[in-house]
Amino acid sequence: DGEGGPRDAGIDPASRPRQGDPRAVRRVGVIGGGTAGYLTALALRAKRPWLEVTLVEAKGIPIIGVGEATTPSMVPFLHHYLGIDPQELYEAVAPTWKLGIRFDWGGKPGGFMAPFDWGSNSVGVLGSLATQDDINAFTFQSLLMERDRAPVFRSGDDGRLSLMKHLPFAYHLDNARFVRYLTELAERRGVGHIDAKIDEVVLGADGWVDHLVTDGGERLDFDLYVDCSGFRSLLLGKALDSPYVSFADSLFTDRAVTAIVPHHGRIKPYTRATTMDAGWCWTIPTRDDDHVGYVHSSGFISVEEATAELQRLYPEAHTFRTVHFRSGRHEEAWIGNVMAIGNSYAFVEPLESSGLMMITLGILSLVGSLPGSWDEPCPRKVVNAALAKKWDEIRWFLAMHYRFNTRKDTDFWRACRADTDVSGLEALLEVFAGGAPLRFRDPVVRGFLESTAPTFYGLDGVDCLLLGQGHPTRLLPMTEPVDAWRARKAAADVLVDRALTAAEALAAFDQDPRLNAQLVGD
Ligand code: FDA
Repeated sequence: DGEGGPRDAGIDPASRPRQGDPRAVRRVGVIGGGTAGYLTALALRAKRPWLEVTLVEAKGIPIIGVGEATTPSMVPFLHHYLGIDPQELYEAVAPTWKLGIRFDWGGKPGGFMAPFDWGSNSVGVLGSLATQDDINAFTFQSLLMERDRAPVFRSGDDGRLSLMKHLPFAYHLDNARFVRYLTELAERRGVGHIDAKIDEVVLGADGWVDHLVTDGGERLDFDLYVDCSGFRSLLLGKALDSPYVSFADSLFTDRAVTAIVPHHGRIKPYTRATTMDAGWCWTIPTRDDDHVGYVHSSGFISVEEATAELQRLYPEAHTFRTVHFRSGRHEEAWIGNVMAIGNSYAFVEPLESSGLMMITLGILSLVGSLPGSWDEPCPRKVVNAALAKKWDEIRWFLAMHYRFNTRKDTDFWRACRADTDVSGLEALLEVFAGGAPLRFRDPVVRGFLESTAPTFYGLDGVDCLLLGQGHPTRLLPMTEPVDAWRARKAAADVLVDRALTAAEALAAFDQDPRLNAQLVGD
């Protein structure tokens, strides 16, 4: 049966199928071999070990394959939920650490930081605003980010390394390398594999999927079908025709030109988002190079012009590719015996690194609510409502990036400021205009906002983004003397002095395999 993984953890006894039940859920077909497909197959094997899981992919249809930035929840998902050994991932995939996003955003020189510890681990700024410009500059992680440091510190006395485990961090992953590793792991853990293109999805009289037919004419039968076929959305979109909810009124981009740029060993501990003439550019550091991509709107710029602008930003850029996409979600992720996870269900541009996070949320929803038999009640409705709500939240959160970007010198940005639909944010923006940071507001107002407003990364995420962009508000008074805050910042600076650069820290981890396990924790 191959390598075990964390098989016995988290098994809900109610989800086990009973012997002899003709409607039992036993055979699962995962259609698609990108990140969504492999992570789903591995999770089902790990958490529902009685399932027979088969992944079907057409090797001839490529996966997304670009550098991808994740969020902190990905680290425990990989290592604790799926039981992936941190050192093994480090050796096979060579991730780099991400402490947040640097927004070179709008007209403001220097942009602003969105570190993962915004709010929770600040060196005092939240209690002691000096000016609006100070507000995003001084969390502990943003100090590390500004100086390209990793959360790995050399002790003054004996030079030993220590790790600051409570700092949230995420990974930058080279998608192609990550999927290669997951493919090999899935084989070791007993996931079945079929390399074939699905040509036909045959529905039964009840509207459920009855079986699939491959391009070689082979018939494939499963009890549950997980659609991880990417933008093609073979089962959910094409066969079941789940209506599509477009986000195009809020998000005008529909294409990306991607490329590779040498970083000459200068590895940044953050993802960068840079405003461009008709969109923005991501810069994601991998161990070998930076992966970059200019997300833009085809209505405002051609591929040739976008490529030329990307080359002006990064003269050494090479290996250009074009990716087309649309922003939105299907009305429902789970219909009958089909659940879609990944781009087959929904997609937004990677401005806040939400894609892989939403994939893991889809996986947790499926694994946590899969009944042992289709005769048992199944919480599809609540899963569909929860996933749709979360996707709508990211739509509104991204819309805030466009509507309030202060750059006004191109048609694209003028259109964004004038026309970006932010109607879902009306109540939230009204409260923000009355006084911010929102975290200083009365707990009752905060509670109402938290339960009703579409924030995606919570109220701290909204504060960080809107204050960072200089969005007008009444700044709430300091609760701590500026001197006390300055003293704390000075103490943090001393610690940051002892932090290794991201490149030095990676070299130290190469030497000492124990460090990875320590960083990831128990
Ligand atoms: P993907 O397209 O990778 O895989 C689809 C699979 O389906 C393939 O294996 C293909 O062979 C298979 N398939 C299709 N048709 C088939 C058929 N007929 N028969 C059999 N198999 C078939 N997310 C994030 O968190 N951070 C980031 O930085 C980014 N960056 C980013 C950049 C760009 C340009 C895009 C387009 C997307 C991102 N994302 C992201 C989101 C990203 O796409 C997503 O997070 C994962 O890579 C998941 O991709 P999927 O597995 O859904 O599709």
